[in-house]
Amino acid sequence: MDLKTRVVYNGQSFTKLGVSARNRVQFEGLIQHRRSSHSTKTSAAHKTIFSGIQPTGVPHLGNYLGALREWVQLQNGATEGTKLLFSVVDLHALTVPQDAPWLRNCKKEMFATLLAVGLDPARSAIFYQSDVSAHTELFWILSTVASMGYLSRMTQWKSKLQLPENTNLEDSAARAKLRLGLFSYPVLQAADILVHRATHVPVGEDQRQHLEFSRNTANSFNHLYGSIFPLPEALISPAKRVMSFKEPTLKMSKSHPDERSRILLSDTPEDIHRKIKGALTDSEPQLKYDPDNRPGVSNLIEILAHFEGKSCEEVVSEFQHSSLGALKGHVASRIANHLQPIRERYIALIENKTGYLEDVANQGSQVARSNAERTMKQVKEALGL
Ligand code: TYM
Repeated sequence: MDLKTRVVYNGQSFTKLGVSARNRVQFEGLIQHRRSSHSTKTSAAHKTIFSGIQPTGVPHLGNYLGALREWVQLQNGATEGTKLLFSVVDLHALTVPQDAPWLRNCKKEMFATLLAVGLDPARSAIFYQSDVSAHTELFWILSTVASMGYLSRMTQWKSKLQLPENTNLEDSAARAKLRLGLFSYPVLQAADILVHRATHVPVGEDQRQHLEFSRNTANSFNHLYGSIFPLPEALISPAKRVMSFKEPTLKMSKSHPDERSRILLSDTPEDIHRKIKGALTDSEPQLKYDPDNRPGVSNLIEILAHFEGKSCEEVVSEFQHSSLGALKGHVASRIANHLQPIRERYIALIENKTGYLEDVANQGSQVARSNAERTMKQVKEALGL
């Protein structure tokens, strides 16, 4: 049974995430969903779009194509009744030890970039997660229904600790290294989404598992206490996984030690040309889109396709008589031109000393707090608190 379908939302095409039938726990979730779906169905009039991003400083091109660009498009195409909330999820950053001044700075850089890419505070609530305490309150409540078995099968804690995918909780390395916060990270993510009764969550492919878990947890809660949470749908961006320029079998990420492996949204045109020129490709003469065997060149083709709104095949046929150098030059110019106004807005925002960013964050957290409080009232009533 294939539960992945393409949906068109606000004129854009996304992969809609269903519940994987291969996983028994998730399948139980589906059954529960059928039981409780009579009152958790989301009506077209009540769309709530929520998403979050970690405070890693200025985001990279993968964050942009996989998430931020989609957030802005969803915002700009949203109908009037749609609620839009976007959060810099600073509490999530604490799963690894943080230096306070560094984290403060990274939060601000991320916040400024969200405005620079086009999120509009008049339309979207943009806020820091730690300013809305209902996220952590609901986290605790959801942790009483979240499945340990499900959490133990999830991949993120293993990859963060560099443990093999088949590691379980009995494993001695897991016992020595694993902290509760990292293990329960998906429960906090579910709380982020559910506290706002989000119906749509735009994310990149790497968040698919977390969205399935959020749906499963919402189902468990609804089943026990009544249908309070709508089941959030993941809107997976067409740019599912932008890959590293230095190790194109890995996704682009801030944790890669080589800064040339990624483009930041604040990079200058010279930085961008230098990084793309140095991107690892192969020595095959013919241009071909083949992510499994030729990941480096395929990544560049995909990036160009996303910027130009074309298919990878169209890009290949356009460049089939060109050299790899010419393709790289074109990709770099396309990215640099697109990012130039974002970079200029970012610099103006980060250098602004009038307290504008703080004002936007305060305004956003007020909206988010009042939205979350409404959910918490219902949740507490349902629980007898
Ligand atoms: P984070 O901060 O790692 O990434 C933010 C968004 O960027 C997408 N992304 C990518 N997309 C394509 N290619 C890449 N190389 C790439 N790298 C990152 C991610 O898919 C994501 O959409 N757990 C989340 C943050 C979070 C969250 C939430 C998201 C916390 N609570 C609630 C949605 C809803 C995370 O670490 O994303």
